[in-house]
Amino acid sequence: MVTGDLRSGGHTSALVKAAVLGGTAPSAHNSQPWRWRVGPDVLDLLLERSRVLATADPDARLAVLSCGVALHHARLELAASGWLAEVERRPTDPGDHLARIRLAGRTERSSRAGRLVRASLLRRTDRRSRPSAPLDHDKLRTIAAAIRREDTRLTLLRPPQTHLLAAAVRQSCEAEGDDPAALAELDQWVGVGRRSGTGIPAGVLGSGDRRQALQNAGTTAIRDVRDHVAVLAVLSTTADTRPDRLRAGEALSAGWLTATTIEVSVLPLSSVIEVAASRSAIRDLIGDGHPQLVLRFAAGEPDSTLPRSPRLPAAAIIEHVGGE
Ligand SMILES: Cc1cc2nc3c(=O)[nH]c(=O)nc-3n(C[C@H](O)[C@H](O)[C@H](O)COP(=O)(O)O)c2cc1C
Repeated sequence: MVTGDLRSGGHTSALVKAAVLGGTAPSAHNSQPWRWRVGPDVLDLLLERSRVLATADPDARLAVLSCGVALHHARLELAASGWLAEVERRPTDPGDHLARIRLAGRTERSSRAGRLVRASLLRRTDRRSRPSAPLDHDKLRTIAAAIRREDTRLTLLRPPQTHLLAAAVRQSCEAEGDDPAALAELDQWVGVGRRSGTGIPAGVLGSGDRRQALQNAGTTAIRDVRDHVAVLAVLSTTADTRPDRLRAGEALSAGWLTATTIEVSVLPLSSVIEVAASRSAIRDLIGDGHPQLVLRFAAGEPDSTLPRSPRLPAAAIIEHVGGE
């Protein structure tokens, strides 16, 4: 039910709050490849090319997906605060304008959105192996339903498919490990060389070689599946246009935050998607649709003792146009 009048004020502050929560979203290598433009009743989401991983992600596939995660976080903030928002996702355009959120009126605060906003404050990427805890399959069904509501499919892989995925993971790790440009790019985002406010601090990855920590994530995940403590799954969309990739990101946000509320940890594995040959192997594996991301699910409540990755300050990602 729509209540109240759109002209009752507070639009700009609501949109800024939405953009700020969007800025806390997870992104590939914590690159935060987004920018927000706040107008009187609209919030525009733009792709920030200077923060796209040029070598690992030349088509900005993962960057657009990451922007979709931010878009969903912003939508949640508005819904939790009682705003009705219309979202227009833009097809490819050279201006890198991905989506526009338009405030359409006031409505009741969504308690479900409120729960997910609270989960977004607890959520972290948990790369640890969870050798002891079994994973509840009913919880996976709840997560898959949240993902489906965002027009995206979650295919849980059965053990024989996991063996095939293991081959794709090996192939992508070898391809990236042999590529000096990919390794140099990794140095810009991981550890001491990273740009301020972005990237993954060495402390977040724990001890040991930081490259290996990221690249081994796939191998560790597959071992956990063999040990029956993790499940691998593929996020996929019917088509593979830019709005589809954005939708996959919105679905990742919905699935990840839902998982956080029911004590399931999520680890995205993107190298298999970055390398075209492995992406095509995964496409054969799921039989239908376009793979957008591989995810590892494991049991595990959010752990507030895990170190946090930084985020850019609001002023670096939000610009104002016009006035209220
Ligand atoms: C599209 C996408 C791809 C990602 N790929 C990987 C990955 O391959 N390996 C990994 O360890 N983390 C991956 N991550 C997790 C990010 O590194 C993480 O979200 C970021 O560093 C911010 O940290 P936080 O999630 O703890 O806030 C990915 C995240 C997103 C959104």
